[in-house]
Amino acid sequence: MQTQTASIARSIAGVVLALALAAASWSCAIRAKRSHEQAAIIRVMLPASERPFWRPIVDRFAQTHPRARVELVEGPESTDLREDLYTASLLARDPTFDLVYMDVTWTAKFAAAGWLRPLDQLFTSAECESLLPAALAAGRFSGRLYRIPARTDVGVLYYRRDLLEAARLPTPQTLDQLFGTAKRLQSPPSRWGFVWQGKQYEGLVCNYLELLSGCGGFWVEPGTREVGLDRPEAKRALSFMVRCIAANGISPPGATTYQEEESRRLFQDDRAIFLRNWPYVWSLAQAEDSQVRGKIDVSPMVHEPGRRGWATLGGWGLGLSSYSRHPELAADLVRIVISLEGQRWLCSSTGFAPARSEAYRDPELLAANPFLTRIGALHKHALARPPIPRYDMASDILQRHLSAALTGGETISAALAAATRETQHVLAARDSGR
Ligand code: GLC
Repeated sequence: MQTQTASIARSIAGVVLALALAAASWSCAIRAKRSHEQAAIIRVMLPASERPFWRPIVDRFAQTHPRARVELVEGPESTDLREDLYTASLLARDPTFDLVYMDVTWTAKFAAAGWLRPLDQLFTSAECESLLPAALAAGRFSGRLYRIPARTDVGVLYYRRDLLEAARLPTPQTLDQLFGTAKRLQSPPSRWGFVWQGKQYEGLVCNYLELLSGCGGFWVEPGTREVGLDRPEAKRALSFMVRCIAANGISPPGATTYQEEESRRLFQDDRAIFLRNWPYVWSLAQAEDSQVRGKIDVSPMVHEPGRRGWATLGGWGLGLSSYSRHPELAADLVRIVISLEGQRWLCSSTGFAPARSEAYRDPELLAANPFLTRIGALHKHALARPPIPRYDMASDILQRHLSAALTGGETISAALAAATRETQHVLAARDSGR
């Protein structure tokens, strides 16, 4: 009930945001029309926090396209909420957004709905080949390309190298070793053992998927549509999460409300020993004002003995709206984003991992972020989320039941049994065309 209410609240929030956004962009459009009678406007919605880093890209576009301009619309930070906003706009065939700044998981849904133009004709094979193959592959659906990666992400386990070294403890490899080391070194509530993203949103799925795979399990097999959530491996992974936040655990009770930034801040403020997050944390944690500067290291996520660690593949890319009135101009903006210069602008001050392969060898980017060499290696552990058109629904089901188990609303078995049933139902509904 509580989870249903949360889901309804999310939809209502989405609609309210969509209306607010539409009102804002209409008034912008009216103003823009007055001042730039002839100018074409290319609009894209981004998380508000990313906007400053896109400025040089927008400026370069203005230099090369004097009769057009780019408008960066500020959206919410959570990927789920931005997906709702783009969905509301595209469902209405609204031309407001020319480009869709897309999470790696949106391709199948948006392409299957016909909301994106295929990009195969607009981008040359040389342009495509300049990008990381896994990131580019995440933009394909039914043999066509719908999304060009702008930056990539891969799950990382950060840890306090100084504290582990002082205690002569090795970097943990298994779930139990992580728990044991965190427990031994923590001193809650001032310093916790392990912080991660436990809020009911897409980030929780990313965290769970890494543990699930490290236990030898799977979520949905894209080929067979088999659902693996009722298996012992799925239970083992969720039990670990529940054990982390239980009394005598290693994570703060508040972890069930954390997204990336809440957990990063705790780690950076010297208040946690282990952190699961994305590559952007490295630059911030190594900045001059960081309390953990020079004291940290990274490793792949822990796993069960005899298995290997996995990292959820994340990342953001650009799709071209089917309703855009300026597809050629929008594609030109994408070209600036994936140029070496564009990648420097987007990644050097943010610590984002580039999408362009050459960027990982670029002296300027490496000087700004030496961690780039490590990210390349972490990509070997990357695991894609299932590329199914109803990904958002499958993710919503998993988020709700994981969250219910973490907050005590459902037992682990009941949560996973319900998640399995509901996921099978969603996948079957698609097969029967419902
Ligand atoms: C990051 C990843 C994205 C993921 C999201 C979850 O933004 O790049 O793929 O879905 O985090 O919070």
